[in-house]
Amino acid sequence: MISETTLDPEEWDEVGFAFHQAVDQCMNNMKSVRNRPVWQPVAKESVLRQNVPVPTGERSLYELNSFFNESILPFSNGNTHPRFFGWVHGSGNIAGVMGEMLAAFMNSNAGGRDHAAVYIERQVLNWCKNIFNFPFESSGIITTGTSMGTLIALKVARNTHAGGDIQKLGLAGMPSRLVGYTSSEAHCSAAKAFELLGLGHDALRRIPVDSEYRMDIEALKHRISEDRMNGLCPIAVIASAGTVNTGAIDDLKRIADICHNQDIWMHVDGAFGGLAILAPEFHGRLTAISLADSIAFDFHKWMHVPYDAGCVLIKNEAEHRKAFSSRGVYLAGLDCGLAGGEPWFCEYGPELSRGFRALKVWFTMQAYGMDRFAELITQNCNQARYLGELVKSNSGLQLLAEVTLNIVCFRYYDRGVPEIELDQLNIRIVTELQLSGIAAPSTTTIKGHTAIRVSITNHRTMTEDLDLLVEEICRLGNQMRGK
Ligand SMILES: Cc1ncc(COP(=O)(O)O)c(C=O)c1O
Repeated sequence: MISETTLDPEEWDEVGFAFHQAVDQCMNNMKSVRNRPVWQPVAKESVLRQNVPVPTGERSLYELNSFFNESILPFSNGNTHPRFFGWVHGSGNIAGVMGEMLAAFMNSNAGGRDHAAVYIERQVLNWCKNIFNFPFESSGIITTGTSMGTLIALKVARNTHAGGDIQKLGLAGMPSRLVGYTSSEAHCSAAKAFELLGLGHDALRRIPVDSEYRMDIEALKHRISEDRMNGLCPIAVIASAGTVNTGAIDDLKRIADICHNQDIWMHVDGAFGGLAILAPEFHGRLTAISLADSIAFDFHKWMHVPYDAGCVLIKNEAEHRKAFSSRGVYLAGLDCGLAGGEPWFCEYGPELSRGFRALKVWFTMQAYGMDRFAELITQNCNQARYLGELVKSNSGLQLLAEVTLNIVCFRYYDRGVPEIELDQLNIRIVTELQLSGIAAPSTTTIKGHTAIRVSITNHRTMTEDLDLLVEEICRLGNQMRGK
């Protein structure tokens, strides 16, 4: 007799109660998020910091749930709170949570084959093509985020423009050195992609920006012709639709014209700003995304899909598929049956096994509709302008960059204080805001000055949160200066 066991419970009802308890507690937590600190550090004595032994026995779901409630849930990233303003984090949504949970129940592997998860992913991708006016024949894949989306797109760009069979021969077999271009304000994920693709980050030319932090088009043209004159091979321009520091949108149309005329791949990093195309105010400046060869953007930022979910769309399906199409004999597709369902998503990215990430995106899009996101994006941009005005009208603060989208960079300022002290002071203010749980902005550097950076990608923020933020920054700054 074989001794057999399974992970399924003997008492499903009991597990059901534990699930209901967990859902209730998380919903209550979400409902009352405003009443709690934005963030609190994991306590020094917390078991989370300890090196605990590998579990060998069993623990009940009730017990685990109670541990989660006490020792994990209160120590989150803070980005579900209305006064979370750091980096660019979405604030989550309950429909997306449901999608995530249901996807876990199904436990689908969306790497390929013929089942519901791949159809849902295709549906989501088709909606995205529609949003960015990409042709229906384009391909795409849901990714962990924009970093992965950009890496995938740049691999296709590199293979398409390398001037030889780079997939077979590698970089060493190419006739000339491959280079690309992005602005000095672009996100570091582009440089990381260049490193991962073996190109080296020096090969990614950092083009200077104009006074509005947009790529300087003349400088771009100049650098491309200089590189060509030196025998190098330009493969891609990475344009930003919303830079991480200030939210600047590059002149996408002019970049598209250059790429078109020079036969260079145009990739758009639209991590958060891409979806501003939904908002009437920004639509015009973002329509030229449709001229790009690829775009990467995130669902987990301005669409508030629970982490993680991003996307890449690529116009040239054939090149996209070729770049990732190695499938072993054990992965052969069949005309029909479970092994049907061509094309498989594993041929559009580096991963074979992939979760049903699409479901939480699908739930979010279906539950709220894109009009709602247009409204929320507009709301956040109006709030950013409001904060910009508050800063301008306050003599103790200094706006460091004009507000163009949803990001406000400013600092506590006093003309009498030396620059180096101002930098330290602003870092201390941000740290104190985070430690006290009042608000969580982040910091950056603008024109050499340390800035308090407030990114409003938050559907829970209200203007009163911005009033409080300004009040607290001034109070802390004055207190630190003994005023
Ligand atoms: C402009 C920009 N590009 C790329 C990224 C990277 O996106 P992800 O964190 O989803 O990989 C970010 C993240 O904030 C970003 O703001």
